[in-house]
Amino acid sequence: MAKTIHIINGPNLNLLGTRQPEIYGSVTLPDVNAACDKLSTELGLRTRFQQSNHEGQLVDWVQEARLTNAAGIIINPAAYTHTSVAILDALSMFEGPVIEVHISQVHKREAFRHHSYVSQRADVVIAGAGVNGYYLALTHMAGLLAD
Ligand code: DQA
Repeated sequence: MAKTIHIINGPNLNLLGTRQPEIYGSVTLPDVNAACDKLSTELGLRTRFQQSNHEGQLVDWVQEARLTNAAGIIINPAAYTHTSVAILDALSMFEGPVIEVHISQVHKREAFRHHSYVSQRADVVIAGAGVNGYYLALTHMAGLLAD
């Protein structure tokens, strides 16, 4: 059976496409979900794509990924990147590869976006590639899991 990758998205990413398009682009989250679905099939993987505006829900989903033996996690924690010890702690219990994705190049933006709690656990960090970051992450994940 194909390995499952959980792709977890944080607050306000449900509004991708209409949210500050000059920063985040015009592609919607359902578009990204569909493209990830297609790419993962090509890579011999399965994806589970989730988004929530609530920190506790994101923690629950990271825990669930561990309990259901997900092969890897790709996560864009959005604003919780910069504040959430709870998401970091949940990710720290997960044993597979973790890839952190940011659509924007957070290091070119406000100083409060330069620190990520999640980076303390992430094996790979991708920032500034737009929604392409998700596809790069999936492709890299396939390589990591094949090693
Ligand atoms: C983001 C960057 C965060 O700083 C911001 O709060 C987001 C999106 C990104 O994908 O570029 O909501 O994670």
